[in-house]
Amino acid sequence: MTATRGLEGVVATTSSISSIIDDVLTYAGYNIDDLADHASFEEVVYLLWHGKLPNQSELDELTKQLAENATLPQGVLDHFTTYPIDSVHPMGALRTAVSLLGLYDEEADVMDDASNYRKAISLQAKLPTIVAAFSRIRKGLEPVAPRTDLSFSANFVYMLTGQEPDAIAIEALNKALVLHADHELNASTFTARVCVATLSDVYSGVTSAIGALKGPLHGGANEQVMKMLSEIGEVSNVEAYITEKFNNKDKIMGFGHRVYQNGDPRAKHLKKMSKELTTLTGEPKWYEMSVKIEEMVTGQKGIPANVDFYSASMYHSLGIDHDLFTPIFAVSRVSGWLAHILEQYQNNRIIRPRAEYTGPGKQTFVPIDQRA
Ligand code: SDX
Repeated sequence: MTATRGLEGVVATTSSISSIIDDVLTYAGYNIDDLADHASFEEVVYLLWHGKLPNQSELDELTKQLAENATLPQGVLDHFTTYPIDSVHPMGALRTAVSLLGLYDEEADVMDDASNYRKAISLQAKLPTIVAAFSRIRKGLEPVAPRTDLSFSANFVYMLTGQEPDAIAIEALNKALVLHADHELNASTFTARVCVATLSDVYSGVTSAIGALKGPLHGGANEQVMKMLSEIGEVSNVEAYITEKFNNKDKIMGFGHRVYQNGDPRAKHLKKMSKELTTLTGEPKWYEMSVKIEEMVTGQKGIPANVDFYSASMYHSLGIDHDLFTPIFAVSRVSGWLAHILEQYQNNRIIRPRAEYTGPGKQTFVPIDQRA
């Protein structure tokens, strides 16, 4: 038995939810470019969960269910005040809040299809409320309750800011949520499938996926990209900064991908939005720095930008706190995690690969009083 590091190239399951073939990403056959340009996030949630785009009445029903389930139990809001909120990363708070939600759901361990679908609706609806409430409570502000008359993206911006969201922010966030919704068997989705393949519950599956997404090699990269841009500060500093990264053989956040060979198709949409929004907010330097970094990393190392690179300057331009970038990734990707969890339950077999043993050979037991 020979191990395949990082399971590179290993086909671990079948799935009808999304595909990445020849650098083309589709959700149930729909090209991500078409979905990014034309679909609402709510339509994409329906597509991922049902394998087809909704008609108007199906979309209205889903939108209504999400709006009706966006409010948090008071105990989840109260728990934010029970720990040192200023030093807690929002992904840790999100991971804990989702786990806590499971304790408030009497059907958490009921495993029939109807109950699991209800939990999917509840979690998709509540994640933005958790992120927004945490963001406000840690600033000493009252959380803003979700409204039932706003779209998913508009409601999220409203709960974050407490103000009527503007159309540009809503459209940009909607497109970003569509682009991040699912991505075949990425690390956090695989984590969710491994967890629920033991027939553990939906809350456990999503909690474990949040833990995986938190890492800087995965969803945590977008926050690290913004940290890099902030450290660089000005376009004129890019060359020296990146050259030092090259010399130190450091990983440059926002670049590279296990699956894409010639570039992440999502990046071009986020690049376009970064250009538009940084110009609109009078801070084009964030986009200009990003372009110069991309020219160096892709031009000199042949490593293309991934989904996380331009999302950083785009989210910054929307006025979003940098440590909320990955939680926003989770608000979107939970739709994909839930699709994969529901799919895993439908045709389940426990996921149990092997390990190539590299430890000591046969040993004879020696009583402790005879050991060196
Ligand atoms: C996401 O899987 C998904 O689908 C994930 C995702 C999704 O939607 O779910 O697309 C979201 O997680 C995007 C990736 C976000 N992470 C980052 O931006 C972190 C920086 N990127 C790298 O850590 C890396 O590219 C990964 C983690 C994305 C991929 O890791 P791999 O496939 O294990 O690649 P590797 O680390 O083995 O690199 C192969 C070579 C190495 O060179 P050598 O040591 O062989 O000479 O490419 C180099 C690496 O050094 N390389 C990089 C690099 N990425 C790869 N060198 C510098 N900077 C980088 N970013």
